[in-house]
Amino acid sequence: MEQYHFAMVIGATGGIGYRVACELANRVKKIYLFATTVEKLAVLENDLHQINNRLSIHAEPLNFADDDLNLKLKIEALNLENSIGVLANCAGTYLSRTFAGTTEDCIHKHFSINAMGPMQIVAHTIDYLQPGSLIINIGSSLSYQPKSNRVLASAVKHAVRGFSLSLAEELAESGIRVCLLNPRSVATPLLQKNSSSAAYQQAMPVEDLVNAISMILNCDRKTLFSEINVGASQGFLGK
Ligand SMILES: NC(=O)c1ccc[n+]([C@@H]2O[C@H](COP(=O)([O-])OP(=O)(O)OC[C@H]3O[C@@H](n4cnc5c(N)ncnc54)[C@H](OP(=O)(O)O)[C@@H]3O)[C@@H](O)[C@H]2O)c1
Repeated sequence: MEQYHFAMVIGATGGIGYRVACELANRVKKIYLFATTVEKLAVLENDLHQINNRLSIHAEPLNFADDDLNLKLKIEALNLENSIGVLANCAGTYLSRTFAGTTEDCIHKHFSINAMGPMQIVAHTIDYLQPGSLIINIGSSLSYQPKSNRVLASAVKHAVRGFSLSLAEELAESGIRVCLLNPRSVATPLLQKNSSSAAYQQAMPVEDLVNAISMILNCDRKTLFSEINVGASQGFLGK
């Protein structure tokens, strides 16, 4: 199993982020966890110690929608001493509705959380990446298959895809890997909140997405998967 000195998971308390953090718990000495909710971070911290009681954990609230957020200062305050092995961007929101009537605030908020936040995190941590480091960005099938009723969600995920694929090209020369995973529906609280119970039942289990991430982590550090599309077979190309 490939070992990394430390990992950083953004959106670590979510359906996907939580499982990614658990997957990393035995692969690193230290893990940095970020999400908006302090209580959920405390639960996650406890759960990760159950998996690996020697794991050093730094958990801290972070809200990309906060207008006063100074991400550069927040990263600098961590006093990172080693290079980042794995940076996983798993934060996100989802809006399923027609575009008519969407407010400027709403557009701003969704771009801040899904696209600008992860981009700024990478911008401010790039000096801590080295050959073999891995950035994992969670995109969506909406980033290559836009949908009506999900105009804003499709737009932000197109931005994430453009960012991730061009960054993969740019950093490849320095041996830093960037992988975009584009899931279709995944059975997480986000989907449960925003879709029918039938859609939730048909969604793929989070474990399968995490298995794909585990496969990447197990590969040689020179091996790059710049983009992986993954989803439940029922209606894979569909509705
Ligand atoms: N589930 C799906 O069907 C699906 C499909 C395609 C793509 N995705 C993408 O996968 C990623 C994770 O989704 P998920 O299903 O795991 O969602 P989730 O269960 O709702 O988790 C979202 C995570 O993002 C964090 N977050 C929410 N608002 C934030 C903000 N303003 N600032 C910083 N962090 C924030 C949440 O923290 P708190 O819980 O502390 O608020 C949580 O850790 C998202 O980018 C989503 O678009 C999901």
